[in-house]
Amino acid sequence: MATFKAAQFTSYGGPDKIVISDLPIPTADEPDSVLIKVHAASLNPIDWKRAEGMMKMLVKESFPLRTGYDVSGVVSSVGSGVTKFKVGDEVFGRIGQAEVGTVAEYVLSTEAKLALKPKSLTHVQAAGVPLTGLTAYQVLEKSNFASKPSRKIFIPAGAGGIGVMAIQLAKHLFNAETIATTVSEAKIDIVKDLGADVVVDYKKEDYTQVLKDYDMAIDTTGETKQQFAILKPGGTLYSIAALPNSEEANAVFPVGFFMGKVLDVLTYKLRWAANSKNIDYHYLFMSPNGTQLAEIGNLADQGKLKVLVDSTFPFTLEGVRDAFARQKQGRATGKVIIQVI
Ligand SMILES: NC(=O)c1ccc[n+]([C@@H]2O[C@H](COP(=O)([O-])OP(=O)(O)OC[C@H]3O[C@@H](n4cnc5c(N)ncnc54)[C@H](OP(=O)(O)O)[C@@H]3O)[C@@H](O)[C@H]2O)c1
Repeated sequence: MATFKAAQFTSYGGPDKIVISDLPIPTADEPDSVLIKVHAASLNPIDWKRAEGMMKMLVKESFPLRTGYDVSGVVSSVGSGVTKFKVGDEVFGRIGQAEVGTVAEYVLSTEAKLALKPKSLTHVQAAGVPLTGLTAYQVLEKSNFASKPSRKIFIPAGAGGIGVMAIQLAKHLFNAETIATTVSEAKIDIVKDLGADVVVDYKKEDYTQVLKDYDMAIDTTGETKQQFAILKPGGTLYSIAALPNSEEANAVFPVGFFMGKVLDVLTYKLRWAANSKNIDYHYLFMSPNGTQLAEIGNLADQGKLKVLVDSTFPFTLEGVRDAFARQKQGRATGKVIIQVI
């Protein structure tokens, strides 16, 4: 039986729990299945959080646990109903929860979650786009940001995975007028180059004292309540880093009645604070979407979307462990990538 190598966690824990295992190569049995030969995978905070058991409230994991959501690679085989892709196509995507495991030589996806890789990006760069690009896109679209009165947006942590994508998508797809962000000193020029208009060095200045009257903020840091202060009355805040309530969680991970109640209690105070300040507050879980990803990819091919690669690691046990350690530090400028081929 033909086998492939895949990174797996043997139990909840840190990089020392990772092993590289030989598994049987899967086949694209379902009509909409696409088997991808992985060239590169990028890591996201969810990868280490999931491995450390921080998502236990929402998803029950079983071990050994495959890891990695973002992929760029080449189509190796397709299911009988696949029409958008053929063997040999270069594709990228954020694969679904049921298929997680892009840190591997092969991974399965469904057709709808993939898009053709932008020609202007290498596999290493393209692997850094899907999860962060789609999250930023979905927040900006769901919030109707493009129709806000003055289109002033605050995107904290502008040099992080989400920040890099959100600044550029806000500017080039959602017509932002003013983009403010926070970074530490060494990253100021990097985010200005991406399109940030107002940059606050968060280690030296309190952004809540400097920024005023914004239409919207995307909470990427979990400092949700502080960010209410910079919004105008009637402003909108989407958090991707706080906790969802039961309705927001159930949209992605059905959590059941009891856990739903727990989430509602845990998030009540924040929602009450938002209401009392007339802030339209939401939590958003991103979802994979090949159509939106193609739109983001087009922007890269038009030269309007840069991908920042923080670091690239080889697909060896040491390389994968080092990549997880780097991602967990929370200091990356752009994306942490594992190059498989
Ligand atoms: N809900 C969803 O669907 C969803 C999707 C994607 C991500 N997320 C969440 O969104 C968060 C951000 O993800 P990410 O991929 O952008 O993370 P990341 O790439 O690991 O972020 C690293 C960056 O954050 C900056 N940073 C850290 N603390 C900061 C602070 N207090 N103020 C300003 N900048 C700060 C660091 O810059 P310095 O070195 O200068 O500090 C670094 O450049 C994570 O919590 C992640 O789990 C949620």
